[in-house]
This record gives sequence, C-alpha cells and structure tokens, in this order.
Amino acid sequence: MRIDGVPYRSVWVDSSDPGVLCLFDQTKLPWALDILRLTHRDQVAHAIRSMQVRGAPLIGAVAAYGLCLALRADASTEAMERDAALLADTRPTAINLRWALERMLTRLRNTPASERVAVAYQEAAAIADEDAAQNEAIGQHGLPLLRDVATARGRVNVLTHCNAGWLATVDWGTALAPIYKAHDAGLDVHVWVDETRPRNQGAALTAWELGKHGVPHTVVADNAGGHLMQHGMVDLAIVGTDRVTRTGDVANKIGTYLKALAARDNDIPFWVALPSSTIDWRVSDGIAEIPIEERSGAEVTDVTGRLPDGQIATVRVAAADSPAANPAFDVTPARLVTGLITERGRCDASAEGLRALFPERA
Ligand code: MRU
Repeated sequence: MRIDGVPYRSVWVDSSDPGVLCLFDQTKLPWALDILRLTHRDQVAHAIRSMQVRGAPLIGAVAAYGLCLALRADASTEAMERDAALLADTRPTAINLRWALERMLTRLRNTPASERVAVAYQEAAAIADEDAAQNEAIGQHGLPLLRDVATARGRVNVLTHCNAGWLATVDWGTALAPIYKAHDAGLDVHVWVDETRPRNQGAALTAWELGKHGVPHTVVADNAGGHLMQHGMVDLAIVGTDRVTRTGDVANKIGTYLKALAARDNDIPFWVALPSSTIDWRVSDGIAEIPIEERSGAEVTDVTGRLPDGQIATVRVAAADSPAANPAFDVTPARLVTGLITERGRCDASAEGLRALFPERA
C-alpha cells in the first residue's frame, strides 16, 4: 500500500544489508512514521511482545524473519529450536505466529546447518509474499458484498473493529482489503472505525491507514456501534481475526463479540476476513480452547496521546488505586458470524463451510 504516494509493505529486509529487518513502529503511529531496524532475535521478540508490531498475519511473517536473524547468529539445530520457541512465546492468541514458525522449522529441520540461513530467508519471503497475495484475494472476494449494497443504496457503510488493515498484515489487510478494493473501484464507501480501547488500534492505526488511502471514515467510541446499527447507519460489519477454529468460531480483539451480538439483533451481516494461516485446524471450541492474552492493566487505566505541544504523553484516566483487568481478545461463536472471507472465497462459518473451501484439510 502507499503512504503519501510511496509504496510500502509492513515488513521488509534492508536491500543493502540482509541482517537488518525493517518495520514500522506501530506504537508511534499516527504521530510519527518511525522505522525500526532490527538485527537481533531479542529485538524481534521485544517488538512483537510490546506491540511495536502487531496484527496476526504480520507477527507471523515478522517471527519468520526473526528466526532468520537468529540463524545468522547460530544455525545449529539446538539454537534453531530454542529460538523458534522463544519467538512463538511472545504472544499467545494469534495462531499465525505459531503457524509461520512451524512452517519455517518444517523446512529447516531437513536443511543442513550450513544452508539454513539462505533457506530461511527464502521461506520467510515466501510467507510474506503469500500473505500479501492472499489478502489481495480476500479483497476481491469481499468486494461483491460492498458492491451489492452500494449498487442498491448508492453508498455502503462498513463498521470495523481494531486494525485489520495493511499494517496488521504484510500488505492489503484482511478486513480492510475489500474496503480498499471497493474504494479503488470507485464505490462510495464509508467506514465506521471503532476506537478499540484499550490500545486504540482503530483510532490510531485504522483511521490513519484509511486516511492515507483517501477512504472516508469516522472514528467512533467502541460503545457506539449498537446505536449506529439501530439507526440504519451500518450496512455490514467486517472484522479481522487472530484465530478461527475449524468449526468457525472467531477470536479477535476484545469487543468483537459485542459487535457481533449487536449486528445479530439488528439483522446486519457480520463478516470475518482471514487468510488460511489464521485457521487453527486443531481446535474446535473457540471459547474453551483458544488462549486469551491477558495484558497489563496499565493499558486500561492509562491512555497515550499527543499533547498540544507535540509531545507524546501517557496519562492515567482511572482512579489512582483502582486495579484493572485486561483480556485482550474475545471469541465470537460461529453462530453469530454471517460468513468468512478467505483467499479462496467466502464460506459459512462452520466446519462444513471451511471444509468445502479447504478440502485438503478434511
Ligand atoms: O492485539 P493486536 O493489535 O495484535 O490485535 C489485532 C487484531 O485483533 C486484529 O483484528 C487481528 O489480528 C486481525 S489482523 C489482520
């Protein structure tokens, strides 16, 4: 995607030094476009854990490149297994992280240590390229949903939660890919952007991305979605996901479930967009089996923003001695999901629906 006319991906290797992995520091957006230059496994682990880089498909690709950096330091089998485990441990909910590292290990375990670095870079690049291509395909498969509404009503209003745009993937995004395709096709598309407390990925990242691409959008408080739906101001919701079970349950940023409930109560289609790397074929009951990341209560009690003098500051909004809980994701049961938009097309959020699109997994 483009920032001020310049094409970027969310992760890339420095063209003059393969030992440098480049990423946007997402904790600095929307105030500054800072590029991190990472050279060590521990820096990559820190970037994922601290959410300098986040979004399920992106952390998978970044972890794969993180393993490349680790192998440059030590390509022995023992070090490789240890470093992959260390990277996999950085965040628990998004399955893409483990999927990418397992894919890397499957390729590298059969590769002599002397060739591992070169092969690892090839595999990480394949993961990144496939993610970009799959997300663009998600955009194509989601586009008709927006086109149908725009054709009937002149305009299409989409509600989204968290950031599932190109910043959260290698390129295009998942939930935002159909929106970018619709906008580029000349449809009148407007996006309601949930602010997405506590980390504000919607207000800080989704709104920034959409703005850079020229897509009309409005940031709303997380609690506004139900009201907007009751008043006919939302035609459909599209969200991304961090893990989908083989039965179609959807883990995504905390608050997604409440939007799905409101959508069901108002007969509004609730779609989930994902590349197949986000499907956990080993899990069937999302509520019971998907681990939900618990993050620091400080993310709830405190808010970070820019002061009028341009300084970035974190201020406390909760009473000084109140403790806070911070589950970072929730699970939306498949029955509340209208359908899944994948790189192979759309399907019901069900075991049958997923099996029909991915018969090799049957
Ligand atoms: O905690 P985050 O910001 O990594 O959570 C990200 C989300 O919940 C996204 O919606 C999800 O990863 C889909 S990404 C295309």
